Amino acid sequence: MELTVAITGASGTIYAYRTLQLLAESRTIETINLIISGTAVTVAQVEMGVNLKEATTQSINKWLGLGDSSKLIRLWRLDNLAAKPSSGSNKQEGMIVVPCSMGTLGAIASGAGTNLIHRAADVCLKEGRRLVLVPRETPYNAIHLENMLRLSHAGARILPASPGFYHRPKTIDELVDHLCFRILDQFDIPHSNKSEWAGEEVND
Ligand SMILES: Cc1cc2nc3c(=O)[nH]c(=O)nc-3n(C[C@H](O)[C@H](O)[C@H](O)COP(=O)(O)O)c2cc1C
Repeated sequence: MELTVAITGASGTIYAYRTLQLLAESRTIETINLIISGTAVTVAQVEMGVNLKEATTQSINKWLGLGDSSKLIRLWRLDNLAAKPSSGSNKQEGMIVVPCSMGTLGAIASGAGTNLIHRAADVCLKEGRRLVLVPRETPYNAIHLENMLRLSHAGARILPASPGFYHRPKTIDELVDHLCFRILDQFDIPHSNKSEWAGEEVND
């Protein structure tokens, strides 16, 4: 299986970090085409203290704790519109934009994208492949909401970065993982912890 993962400049770099690690742990993916927006670099620095500027496959592998020799991640430059995910003829399962900024969301919704993230997402929609967007902003204005509805109508799956609490998370990691499990579920990718709700008897 081949997937594209894009990290954009919304808050929540940790969701991208854990999603990539869980995809690696699943051992079901052969290649992850990774694209990082310019502002994602800034947010990653602010939120996780990591420098993704001029990142290389090796430095990404190190960040994610993957082995030096791992061939899982294939990093593409944001301005490289000749990259693999830019073409519908490249057979892949789909794409995850995590976290997804309102800027990227708007560009995809308008169909007038300018960078590889926008183009790769556009390709998924036109080819009928799964596109999972993990938007993060609060509050949403009417433009954000209309863009999400438009994208949902076009076939995208909107999976907001709004973690649940019904599994009683005790740590931030548990909170984050629960959301990332839901991202993997969109592609039926197995993960370590079952997050499926089994039902519970509650008192009246
Ligand atoms: C620290 C930081 C946090 C941000 N958080 C958000 C956010 O949660 N949601 C959002 O839509 N934009 C957020 N932004 C603004 C976006 O990064 C900005 O709109 C940018 O142009 C998005 O570009 P991109 O989609 O190409 O990454 C944040 C910016 C910074 C520097």
